[in-house]
Amino acid sequence: MITYPEKLNLAQTPTPFYLLERLSANLGIANAPRIWIKRDDLTGSATSGNKIRKLEFLLAEAQANGCDTVITSGGVQSNHCRAVAILGAQLGLKVHLLLRSDSKPQAVGNLLLDQLVGATISHYSIREFKRLDSLFKHWTEHYQEQGSKAYSIPTGGSNGTGIWGYISAAEELAADFVRYQINPRAIVHASGSGGTQAGLMLGCYLHGISAPVKGYAVCDNSAYFTRKINADLQDWKHRYASDIDISALKAETFDDYIGPGYGQAGPEIFDFIKQVAAIEGILLDPVYTGKAFYGLIEDIKKGKYSQPAPSSQSSQSDDIVFIHTGGLFGLFAQQQQLGF
Ligand SMILES: Cc1ncc(COP(=O)(O)O)c(C=O)c1O
Repeated sequence: MITYPEKLNLAQTPTPFYLLERLSANLGIANAPRIWIKRDDLTGSATSGNKIRKLEFLLAEAQANGCDTVITSGGVQSNHCRAVAILGAQLGLKVHLLLRSDSKPQAVGNLLLDQLVGATISHYSIREFKRLDSLFKHWTEHYQEQGSKAYSIPTGGSNGTGIWGYISAAEELAADFVRYQINPRAIVHASGSGGTQAGLMLGCYLHGISAPVKGYAVCDNSAYFTRKINADLQDWKHRYASDIDISALKAETFDDYIGPGYGQAGPEIFDFIKQVAAIEGILLDPVYTGKAFYGLIEDIKKGKYSQPAPSSQSSQSDDIVFIHTGGLFGLFAQQQQLGF
């Protein structure tokens, strides 16, 4: 039995889980493992995506600590910051976003929504963002001087508290697997700040799921994710004084499909997004899910998923699960790349 900390009920869960019936045949991988999808893009309308699962725990902690303000950070089109901005408005918390951008950003996609719900926004260059810790400190002191109490959420909501969101999502997945009687050979998703992967790895371990969790990086390299995921797991262990042995949890994050860089994708990703949208009605984004799902399909074609994972049971079925972590608003910020 796992004792979860206090959380707010903000996400629409459980999210749908189903088999992508047409995709494999249409993409020429009919003989490969079947692909199932966990629709975490449906956790809310404007609050959609993976971040809300983490924020259920983080914002509960903010409220329990008596905070009236939330400070968080991310790229200018951060899905995480958008989710914080909207949930802050829903809960009556002030939200201050520290956003990274080098040019004057257009109010489109996530940034449009940040502004719509009245978040305070400070824009910083990539160079200024290198001293993010001191920016958080500066604004925390600023609110303190005003008689407010600010709660800081790290980029992506990834820390020992935030990862509870995907420990709990793994419990949902375990129920999905029982319902459909599958024992997948892999659980796959996009990795940005590592918290989703850390939570899923730990959650699978705690909920008895043997499938390995495989992250597709959209920014930093595999070595970075190994360190970051380990740091989040250690933070979790420390905060919750758990005696669970996390040393057996080894992160597997692939960095072959980042493309030109974070937030930038090549034409193959936009073509792929169009294909998947037309075949299955699934909307991917060019920053996270488009790259991760594209990477998965390419790796299936290369035979990377043909062998069952060494740690798996012999009864393992021929199934792969893709977690759709949301990100749709990022597509609107790059819509001209779709070429319509
Ligand atoms: C749509 C989407 N998918 C995946 C991720 C990656 O999640 P994480 O930051 O927990 O690695 C993010 C955020 O970074 C995201 O916004």
